[in-house]
Amino acid sequence: MLHLSQVALRPFVAALALATVSVVAVNAEDAKPADKSLANSLNPDDKTAEKDDKLLAKDAAVKVEDGKYFDAEGHPTFHVTENGKKFDWYAYSGYRRYHAECHVCHGPDGMGSTYAPALKDSLKHLSYEEFIGILAGGKQDVSSSEQKVMPAFGDNKNVMCYADDLYVYLKARAAGAMGRIRPGDKEEKPEAAKKAEKECMGG
Ligand code: HEC
Repeated sequence: MLHLSQVALRPFVAALALATVSVVAVNAEDAKPADKSLANSLNPDDKTAEKDDKLLAKDAAVKVEDGKYFDAEGHPTFHVTENGKKFDWYAYSGYRRYHAECHVCHGPDGMGSTYAPALKDSLKHLSYEEFIGILAGGKQDVSSSEQKVMPAFGDNKNVMCYADDLYVYLKARAAGAMGRIRPGDKEEKPEAAKKAEKECMGG
C-alpha cells in the first residue's frame, strides 16, 4: 500500500527531476567552445605571474555582459588581452581597490605579510561565496597565540561596492593571469559599473 507521505512527495520528486534536467541543459550550453573574443592573452614573459593552467581553464570567461566577464559557474572572472597588457575593467578596478584597502595587511600584489595570508594563494581555493562572506563578516584565527583579525567590511562601502572587482583581481593573481605589475591598459569602464557604483555608494 502507498503511504500518504509518498503520494504527497510525488509532485516534488517530479519537479526535482525537471529541475535536474534543466541544470544539465545549462551546463551543456556552457561547455560549448568559448567565443574566441573571450579567450585570455597572457604575457608569456612575466615570470611573476605564476601561471596555473588548471585555474586558468576553470576561470575562463564563457560570457560577457556589459563589460563584466563570467566563468562557467556564473561567477565574475577576469579577461586579459594584448599579451597581458590590457585588463577588463573589474580586474583593473580591483587592483586599485586592493591597494587602497587590503595591501596594508595582505601585502602588495596579494603576496601576503607576516600578519595576513597571501590572497594570491587563498583565492586558488576560496569560492566566490566564501570570499564575499569573509569580506563582509571578517575572520578571526582563534587557534593562533597572537590575535590575527580580518576585519568585517560589511558596512564599508569603499570595499563592499567593489567586492566583485576585488574578487576578479585576486582571481587573476591566483590563476597567474596577472603578475606583480601595475595594470597598464584597461577596457573602458562599463555603463553597468557606473550605474552600480552610483547606486551602491549613494544608497
Ligand atoms: C587589518 C588587517 C587586514 C586588512 C586591512 C584586510 N585583511 Fe583580510 N585578513 C586579515 C587577517 C589577519 C586574515 C587571516 C584571518 C584568519 O586566518 O583567521 C585575513 C584573511 C582574509 C581572507 C581569508 C584568507 C584565507 O586564506 O582564508 C580573505 C579572503 C581576506 N582576508 C580578504 C581581504 C580583502 C579583500 C581585504 C581588503 C578589502 C582585506 N582582507 C583587508 C587581515 C586584514
